[in-house]
Amino acid sequence: MSVERAAELLSRARRGVALTGAGVSAESGIPTFRGEGGLWTRYDPVKVSSIDSFMADPVSYWQVSKDRGRVALAAKPNPGHTALAALEEAGHLVAIVTQNTDGLHQDSGARRVIELHGSGREVQCLECQDRLSFEMPPRCRSCGGALLKPTVVLFGEPMPVEAVTAAHDLAVQADVMLVVGTSLVVYPAAEIPLVAVRAGAPMIVINAEPTPFDRFAEVVINGRSGEVLPEILALIGE
Ligand code: OAD
Repeated sequence: MSVERAAELLSRARRGVALTGAGVSAESGIPTFRGEGGLWTRYDPVKVSSIDSFMADPVSYWQVSKDRGRVALAAKPNPGHTALAALEEAGHLVAIVTQNTDGLHQDSGARRVIELHGSGREVQCLECQDRLSFEMPPRCRSCGGALLKPTVVLFGEPMPVEAVTAAHDLAVQADVMLVVGTSLVVYPAAEIPLVAVRAGAPMIVINAEPTPFDRFAEVVINGRSGEVLPEILALIGE
């Protein structure tokens, strides 16, 4: 029933916005942060993913990111990514706002992707600001500095203002808010769906487990995004 209702809402949408999180890439083999097998069940995020610990000890940071980075760089989009790109192509979604840094939405053909937490596909030298192609060990070729860091937002770093503003504006104008594969506990990203709901958009939540905002949703589907999204797409008939 809920899959049918989600399809009905999305088929009518002309300014739908998706907010995605790590769960959407789980079926591409990239571990999530929270939930079963999550990265933060093994590591303390403040220790390994904050700007202060990075500046103090970039080597520890890079050791942990080898764990995730190699997998993420080799990963391919899954049917969940492809279905979201198809919903955009069909005119039901105007953008995909993502907390993911893996670039898989772009690889699946999605056109408007707003990366709230930056990108893990590029590195940046914090000493001379040069952006380089990914390489290990990460040293800046221009200045030789060792503070080369992926262009992801670490805890303690400001969010990219342009992306946050664009996501906020899209949410205000959304006629459907589709939330996929995110635990909705990291702010301000988690605020985006609430902006849409407050502006009157119905919210659809697709996640493996309950989220704190399920009570604000018109439809909640607890399942795998790589299975649920293609089902919805098939019902819409696109
Ligand atoms: P989380 O790891 O917090 O949440 C992922 C959610 O996806 C969990 O609730 C899982 O139950 C769910 N999930 C797992 N597999 C799924 C599947 N196949 N289909 C659908 N849902 C599935 O990831 P995010 O909410 O994205 O921050 O995390 C937010 C931020 O916390 C990340 O962007 C990162 C992290 O610290 C930064 O990098 C700044």
